Amino acid sequence: MFENEVVFTIKNLSAYYGTHKVLENINVEVRKGKITAIMGPSGCGKSTLLRCLNRLNDMIPDFRIEGSILFHGRDIYQIGDVNEYRRKVTMVFQRPNVFPLSVFDNVAYGLKIKGVRDKKILRHKVEEALVKAALWDEVKDKLNKPAVQLSGGQQQRLCIARAIAIEPEVILLDEPTSALDPIATTKIERLLEELAENYTVVIVTHSVGQALRISDYVLFLYEGRLVEYGETSTIAKKPRHEMTRKFLTGKIG
Ligand SMILES: Nc1ncnc2c1ncn2[C@@H]1O[C@H](COP(=O)(O)OP(=O)(O)O)[C@@H](O)[C@H]1O
Ligand SMILES: [Mg+2]
Repeated sequence: MFENEVVFTIKNLSAYYGTHKVLENINVEVRKGKITAIMGPSGCGKSTLLRCLNRLNDMIPDFRIEGSILFHGRDIYQIGDVNEYRRKVTMVFQRPNVFPLSVFDNVAYGLKIKGVRDKKILRHKVEEALVKAALWDEVKDKLNKPAVQLSGGQQQRLCIARAIAIEPEVILLDEPTSALDPIATTKIERLLEELAENYTVVIVTHSVGQALRISDYVLFLYEGRLVEYGETSTIAKKPRHEMTRKFLTGKIG
């Protein structure tokens, strides 16, 4: 398959909010078809790094980066059509942000924007996305109900269904389970492992346990610096840095 193929090359990346430097010279290659976890204590720059990957910080006045991020070798800060790019590299947020629409229309939303009008195709693609998001059985009789009536865990899987409906290549998730109970969290973790067979997943997590359970690669940030990056199994057994060891054993963070 795509063993070792690189999706993102993050090169000498620094990031600033005004004069506040929050990422310092990050160099990482993110691999295709893998789950990469970004971990580190609160405020270390995890969300900033993730948001750079689909240029979500563009809207923040005073935000700027130095260095570059290549997506399959192309500098994402040089591309013209950001919306097109964000369909390939899509984001799922910490709190499920379902739209005030029906379950069906939440998933169909992106497809309609893409110009899919045919009702049969829409129905098929919505069902397919809900099946992939492990939600179909729970919602197949409630497709026309408002999405806000679903539980928190179901809403988050609906957001994942909405993301995969548009057939992205990469799914970015920012602490997607932090607002969920343990059972819903387990469901999402199982789901991410399944998705990684077809997508590249980058997930910010505050939870060491979650990073160790689901990720193939882990990237550990501390105060905006990359302390350690590598295969999760290797780092879990033998972290190279004292700081990583402390974080993994709960002594910092
Ligand atoms: N929109 C913003 N404007 C100014 N500073 C910000 C903004 N977002 C984050 N920061 C600052 O950047 C640093 C890193 O934040 P963030 O990337 O959210 O960290 P994490 O996700 O690891 O908690 C923090 O000091 C935070 O206060
Ligand atoms: Mg964050």
